[in-house]
Formats: sequence, structure tokens, C-alpha cells
Amino acid sequence: MCQNISRSCKNLFFKVALVIVVSPIVYVYFEPTVNWLKSLNYPSVPKHDVCGDICINALKTPNQIQIAASSQGGDLDTILLIWMWPFGQQFDLGLCSSMYDIHGCHLTVDKSQFNKAHGILFHHRDINGDLSNMPKLPRPPFQKWVWMNMESPSNSRQRSNLNNLFNLTMTYRQDSDIMVPYGRISENTGGKKHDEIPHKNKLVCWIVSNWNSDFKRSKYYEELKEHISIETYGNHSNGRISNQDYSDVVSSCKFYLSFENSIHKDYITEKLYKPLSLGTVPVVLGPPRKNYEEFIPGSAFIHVDDFNSSKELAEHLKLLDQNDDLYRQFFTWKEHFVASASIFGPDQACHACDHIRRNKNYRVVNDLNSWYWG
Ligand SMILES: *[C@@H]1O[C@H](CO)[C@@H](O)[C@H](O)[C@H]1NC(C)=O
Ligand SMILES: *[C@@H]1O[C@H](CO)[C@@H](O)[C@H](O)[C@H]1NC(C)=O
Ligand SMILES: *[C@@H]1O[C@H](CO)[C@@H](O)[C@H](O)[C@H]1NC(C)=O
Repeated sequence: MCQNISRSCKNLFFKVALVIVVSPIVYVYFEPTVNWLKSLNYPSVPKHDVCGDICINALKTPNQIQIAASSQGGDLDTILLIWMWPFGQQFDLGLCSSMYDIHGCHLTVDKSQFNKAHGILFHHRDINGDLSNMPKLPRPPFQKWVWMNMESPSNSRQRSNLNNLFNLTMTYRQDSDIMVPYGRISENTGGKKHDEIPHKNKLVCWIVSNWNSDFKRSKYYEELKEHISIETYGNHSNGRISNQDYSDVVSSCKFYLSFENSIHKDYITEKLYKPLSLGTVPVVLGPPRKNYEEFIPGSAFIHVDDFNSSKELAEHLKLLDQNDDLYRQFFTWKEHFVASASIFGPDQACHACDHIRRNKNYRVVNDLNSWYWG
């Protein structure tokens, strides 16, 4: 083709040479641009639209029951006796099949069923210090006692007389026999188009029911409010807030401070899941970001640890307030997932029963004390 150094051949040669010479320049030219973008330091701008692998696995198996499912699928008539209503709050005992698709479970509070019950549910906070309200009859050999506690170790009284008493632990922790998170992200299988972002007329909100100036969250709040205005509700000075008001307030804020009262691995409560389900971007204070990402997409929230100071966080929130495109990126996960807060009581009871129905193995929780508080 290029036997003679014809005009067109020279042209081709020059074009190729030009590309070869120019590409590093283009590369060098664009690279600083990328760095410059990076140096802008948008730590919480979504890195991935959907849930990461760990997150998806965790979410598709909301408790460990499914993983451990025995092949025969379990007995059809498993009785779980709820020994005490958790925090004295009664709930509908007939929700397992309709709400959780758990069949073959019979929940009861009738203590005369003691000898027949496959499992007995005990709520930590309601167990008397001297165990005087625990069953006195000998335990049938097949029966499993479930220790339920959704409070963090900081918020629960340590008890050494509970060792060698239970067969199963049920908490929010991943290392429990039965893990029941405070909420979950599930795949949006309904084919329903995801909700629009609700109308916003407030920037940052916080509803606090348990003010304690020693909590890390209170200290952070005191700092943050020096740099950005925060609407607060529910502090004892302003009175408590109803459920309806809660939803209205939370959904009308661009950001909600999902600040946990104590910092523990996996202790990620409804303070996160409710705002997520109400169309608000949670700003979380709790365990490290990595831990959150085991439960929810990394692009759905802002972590206070993403910033060097509360001032930087405030500046970032103000920037997102001015930039609708950046703000909307926090909602792209909703194209594939929906968030829901779990319902305290039925969620635990149904999953405990299902676990017992499917798992016949022998198990004793020897040292509950050091496992939970150690
Ligand atoms: C709640 O009340 C305490 C004591 O009155 C006060 O120090 C604190 O700033 C209040 N917090 C909020 C969030 O309003
Ligand atoms: C935050 O702190 C780190 C480590 O001290 C530093 O490298 C980084 O530049 C800081 N970021 C900003 C935006 O100041
Ligand atoms: C449950 O734990 C108790 C107390 O340690 C033990 O005696 C019993 O054998 C265990 N039962 C099962 C079914 O694991």
C-alpha cells in the first residue's frame, strides 16, 4: 500500500504518528482532571448504584434460618411459647404466614402448652434478676429456650446467672444463632416503579428521644449544629412525637441524623431503616461504614466517619443541598431495592419458631455472659 511515499500514505503516517504522540498528552491532560475531581473529596458520593456482594448476600438471607434449612423442610406443627410479652407489648400471633411466608408455626402465650412447646421465647429485659419468673417444670428433652435481646450490650444489664440456660441466641448480631436485624433491604420484586423523592422543606433533622450528653452522638450533634442548622424534635423539652408526625417530619427532610445511642458491631437500628424507607438520606453514626455496607447499599447513606470534621460534613451537606443531581444519586438503589423496618415482636417470634422448626440439632449456650458482654 505504501510502496511509494505518496501523499495519502504520508497523511496516514502522520495521522498514526499524531495519535501515538498525542495520546499520552490527552492522557496526561485528563489524568490531572480526574485527580482534581478526586481531590474535591466527595467521600460519600455513591460509588455503586446497587448493593455490593456482601450486602446482597446478607439481605437475601435476612436471617440464618434459610441457610441452615434442613432438607426435609421441618415439622409442620412447631409450637413456640412466648413466655413473656417483650417489654409487655402484645402483638398478633397469627402473622407468620402472611407477613413472613413462614408456615407450620404456631405461636402461643398459653403457659399450659409448656410440655408440648418446641421452643420457648424469653426476652432479656423481662427476665427477673433472681429468675423467679422463669419456668419451674423440668424441660422436655426436645425443647429449646431462646434468649431474645435486641438491645446493645451497653443498653442491657449484664447477667451472669443466664449461662447454661438457653439453647439459642436471637439478637441483631450476625453471630447469633438467629439473627434478626432491625430492618432490611429486599429486592424490589413487585415490579413497582420506585417512589419519587418526597417533597423536602427541611435540610437536616434529628428526632431524639433519649438525650444523654455523654453519648457520642450528643457530642457530635453539638459540634455539627455550629456549622449547619438542624431541626430537632422529641427532646424532652419539646415533648414526644407521634408515629404520623414522625413519618411526616422525616420524609420532609433531605437528611436525617441516624445516630445510634451506642456503638457496637451490627447495632444498626430502625434509626437507619425508617428514614431509608421514608425517602430520606440517613447520615449515620455507629459502627464503621464497612459494617453498614453488609446490610445496605453503600450509596444509600452518608457516614460521619467519611469526613475529618463535623464542619466538613456540614459543608458537604450544604453542597448536596445545592446540587440536585448529586443528591438524587443517593436514591438510585431504590430502582432495585426497597427498605423496611422490622416489626418488633412478630419478626422475632416468627423467625425463632421457623428456626426451631428447621433445626433439630442439640445446642447449649454455655457462656452467654461473655459472648454478649465480653
Ligand atoms: C436536649 O435537651 C438538653 C437538656 O435540656 C440540651 O442540652 C440539648 O441541647 C437538647 N438537645 C436537642 C437535640 O435539642
Ligand atoms: C482529611 O484528613 C486526611 C488525613 O489527615 C487528609 O489527608 C485529608 O486531606 C483531609 N481531607 C480534607 C478534605 O481536609
Ligand atoms: C438446651 O439447653 C439445656 C440447658 O443447658 C440442656 O439441658 C438441653 O439438653 C438443651 N436442649 C437441646 C434440645 O439442645
